[in-house]
Amino acid sequence: MNVLVIGSGGREHAIVEALSRSPKAPKIYAAPGNAGIAALAECVAIKDTEVEKLVEFAKANNVELTVVGPEAALAVGVVDRFREEGLKIFGPTKAAAEIEASKDFAKRLMKKYDVPTADYATFSSFDEAMEYVRKGSLPTVLKYDGLAAGKGVVIATTMEEAEATLRDMLLDTKFGEGRVVIEEFLTGEEFSLMCFVAGNKVVPMPVAQDHKRAYDNDEGPNTGGMGAYTELPFITEEDHAYAMTNIMQRVADALVAEGVPFTGVLYGGLMKTPQGIKVIEFNARFGDPETEVVLPRLTSDAVDVFMAVAENEAPVVEWSEEATLGIVMASKGYPGDYQKGFAIRGTESVDAKIYHMGTAMKDGELVTAGGRVMIVVASAPTLEAAQQKARQEIAKIECDNLFYRSDIGNKAFK
Ligand code: AMP
Ligand code: GLY
Repeated sequence: MNVLVIGSGGREHAIVEALSRSPKAPKIYAAPGNAGIAALAECVAIKDTEVEKLVEFAKANNVELTVVGPEAALAVGVVDRFREEGLKIFGPTKAAAEIEASKDFAKRLMKKYDVPTADYATFSSFDEAMEYVRKGSLPTVLKYDGLAAGKGVVIATTMEEAEATLRDMLLDTKFGEGRVVIEEFLTGEEFSLMCFVAGNKVVPMPVAQDHKRAYDNDEGPNTGGMGAYTELPFITEEDHAYAMTNIMQRVADALVAEGVPFTGVLYGGLMKTPQGIKVIEFNARFGDPETEVVLPRLTSDAVDVFMAVAENEAPVVEWSEEATLGIVMASKGYPGDYQKGFAIRGTESVDAKIYHMGTAMKDGELVTAGGRVMIVVASAPTLEAAQQKARQEIAKIECDNLFYRSDIGNKAFK
């Protein structure tokens, strides 16, 4: 059986590895893949957004199942095109992926279907947005609504900062017609609840927690994620049941009712606030680095799981009981400017999983080639043991230009 994975990060490495554990022993292709993935799959030089080339490749190579990693591929309609051609693919249509691509769409849907989330208002006028902020309280959360990579989310703690941000988001014509979602600032522990969704069928994965800030104690700039772990002691069974019923199932049902049924992974970025669990954001795909700590625990056949969802069926999923913890090694300077091409040594003596995020082979040697370079993931019967093991194993990796957080998982022990 031939399977294609679209994407090139640590998330896709974890997906490829899960597929490689299938008893069906599929032949795996990755487009474009990376230096780590190359050990398990045949990497083909097609970018994640080159939809027609991907379709052609899948047809020419009898690919029976395609799994989409990145949001960019969903946003250009890769799932729609594959389905038009009668090709099986795991992921949501472009219309369903709007739940991630448009914050305003997500917020309107949540309001209409009574899904708990921060209060909000949407503006395209700078003056009206400023008036709203002046009447409200600080900090205030300003989210750019649309495709403007890097602008993202700003939590403004002063009126000056709010004004400068709104100016940037709404008056800076470079980004075309902008809209801003202004949200109530929530407090509490954040966690990620990813579910396999096939229309109304919703099957949860183990809950994980990401660490978005660059440095220890949640200091420094926001990043793509500096580490993650499962399980979370502060999320009770009751919390989980509440989030499944009132958030994940309700949103899956809402998307069906709106005529844009979801298939793939629906990622709930949730927060346990003093007023209960609320939604911070939805993603229409596997989280990164959450996937790297969740999929190692999948004991079912990953081919069957992805295939079931692609065929709009509820997958049968089983998970190991162990805890997992992953620490990301990033290039010094990330998420700002950084240099590439530094040799990475010692990975062969690491007794833990390593998923590559931004590496390359140069003259037969593994070198850094991205902001986030790799993630070291340890599994153990307890989270304490997994944390200890991840720290011990990551210390074996030598590179002159990498840094990592030493406090991944500490929030579980507070
Ligand atoms: P988002 O891209 O929507 O996930 O936002 C990025 C980060 O900003 C989140 O992971 C939160 O830490 C923070 N954030 C977003 N919205 C809120 C909110 N309403 N209240 C507090 N923090 C928020
Ligand atoms: N870990 C956050 C994300 O994948 O968006």
